[in-house]
Amino acid sequence: NLNLLGQREPEIYGRATLDEHVAAAIAAGAPLGLTIEHRQSNHEGDLVDAIHSARGRAAAIIINAGAFTHYAWSLHDALAAFDGPVVELHLSNPAAREGWRHLSVVSPVATGVITGFGGLGYRLSVEA
Ligand code: DQA
Repeated sequence: NLNLLGQREPEIYGRATLDEHVAAAIAAGAPLGLTIEHRQSNHEGDLVDAIHSARGRAAAIIINAGAFTHYAWSLHDALAAFDGPVVELHLSNPAAREGWRHLSVVSPVATGVITGFGGLGYRLSVEA
């Protein structure tokens, strides 16, 4: 659902669009010599494929898995097979929201987690 950022529950996720967040990440990566590739999909299998395609090619993965965070064990397994740092990113702080958001199946295979800082998290994730 992250393709709807800017329109979707702006009181929770803010007014910035996903393209704007990606632009902030790219801008944060440039002075660090990092090239950022971005993938968005509403389909779990597409995200598994995207994680696989990073294997042996990308230095690190930053993932905002949206609601998949809370139940998509296929993403957990795909990330476990990635050899490099994994940053789990959320705009909101799921731990401060509904109980069903408190479980993350991504966290056990993440190097670290950045949550609750809104769009700033995209820059912080690149720096991490
Ligand atoms: C989210 C938090 C998730 O719980 C939610 O389902 C999202 C967005 C965030 O960035 O705050 O889609 O990952």
